[in-house]
Amino acid sequence: MILVTGGTGMLGAHLLFQLINSGESVRAIYRSKKSRKKTRKIFEYYAEDADLAFSKIEWVKADVTDVPALETAFSDVEKVYHIAALVSFDEKNAMKMRLVNIEGTANIVNLCIAFGVKKLCHVSSIASVAKSVGKPLIDEKDEFNLLTNNYSYAITKYGAEMEVWRGTQEGLDVVVVNPGVILGPGFWSENSGMLFTMIYKGTPFYTEGLTGFVGVDDVVTVMLKTMDSVVKNERFILVSENISFKEVLFDIAGLLQKKRPRIKVTAFMAAIGWRLSWLKSTFAGGVNNFSKHTAKSANNKSYYNSRKVQKTFDFEFEKMTSVIAKIAKQFLRDIN
Ligand SMILES: NC(=O)c1ccc[n+]([C@@H]2O[C@H](COP(=O)([O-])OP(=O)(O)OC[C@H]3O[C@@H](n4cnc5c(N)ncnc54)[C@H](OP(=O)(O)O)[C@@H]3O)[C@@H](O)[C@H]2O)c1
Repeated sequence: MILVTGGTGMLGAHLLFQLINSGESVRAIYRSKKSRKKTRKIFEYYAEDADLAFSKIEWVKADVTDVPALETAFSDVEKVYHIAALVSFDEKNAMKMRLVNIEGTANIVNLCIAFGVKKLCHVSSIASVAKSVGKPLIDEKDEFNLLTNNYSYAITKYGAEMEVWRGTQEGLDVVVVNPGVILGPGFWSENSGMLFTMIYKGTPFYTEGLTGFVGVDDVVTVMLKTMDSVVKNERFILVSENISFKEVLFDIAGLLQKKRPRIKVTAFMAAIGWRLSWLKSTFAGGVNNFSKHTAKSANNKSYYNSRKVQKTFDFEFEKMTSVIAKIAKQFLRDIN
């Protein structure tokens, strides 16, 4: 039996489909039935009979912070994919992120050890690696640096990874993947799916910030490869290409036949923007979508090196133009 956490999220839903499609017995934790519908929607993209494929998942209601509920989910489990996390750049969620991302991962690691799980695949992020002085490309050897990555999402993803490495000291076999920004179809109003929605709605803003991007299918493929191999206790950066948000947004605009954003967000504009957004969310309530971190990183440039995963698994990433073209097609199908 394989256990998946985060199966109602963008990456987890795509992984669940591939596991079911290859005939595995799969259990997934969920928190609300409403969220499960999002996974079912992703199954429609791939399966001839989405209902049949979806019905093969054994769902167990559990939060990663609820150990007794998780214990039920762990019975007879041999492999675990731990994907669940609170992804937020709003510092108001700092304590919640500590709880879900760090303590939640500690719970998963402890239960893997207690239930004799053979291998754990943990989804970390490029947010938990940082630039080293004098090195042009960031790779797996580069450690977290609080001076550059001092925002709660990064800190808690790093804390989560530390719990996983602690697990290896207690005899657990693990693989850790550190994906860049994951682009995939579906979940259009959340995380990276928002990029397509924003362009469709005609956002005028773009930034020249640059980072690593990767397609969701490649992340899933590598996760499956790492779990089927003898490789253990290694981390792998998953980045197809280092490109700017400007390039990505312009590409999406072309494919959706929408206007390209025309106003470059400068450091000055970003500094005003995050303060206004903070004031609005603090006094009028709601989510702070433009945090101090988002503003500061708007024009940052970070380049990542994915040679380790390419060499270890003889793997080639799909180019981002091809990934984005497929996603744009699905976006247009979904809104029509
Ligand atoms: N998206 C990216 O660009 C990106 C890049 C690098 C790394 N990552 C990492 O990849 C993973 C998946 O990201 P994603 O984009 O798929 O995120 P997502 O769509 O926001 O999904 C998050 C998943 O975690 C679950 N979750 C959150 N809090 C939970 C809790 N307390 N207990 C149980 N489950 C909980 C959510 O369940 P509900 O449906 O119940 O909310 C959902 O299934 C995360 O670990 C993230 O840090 C993402």
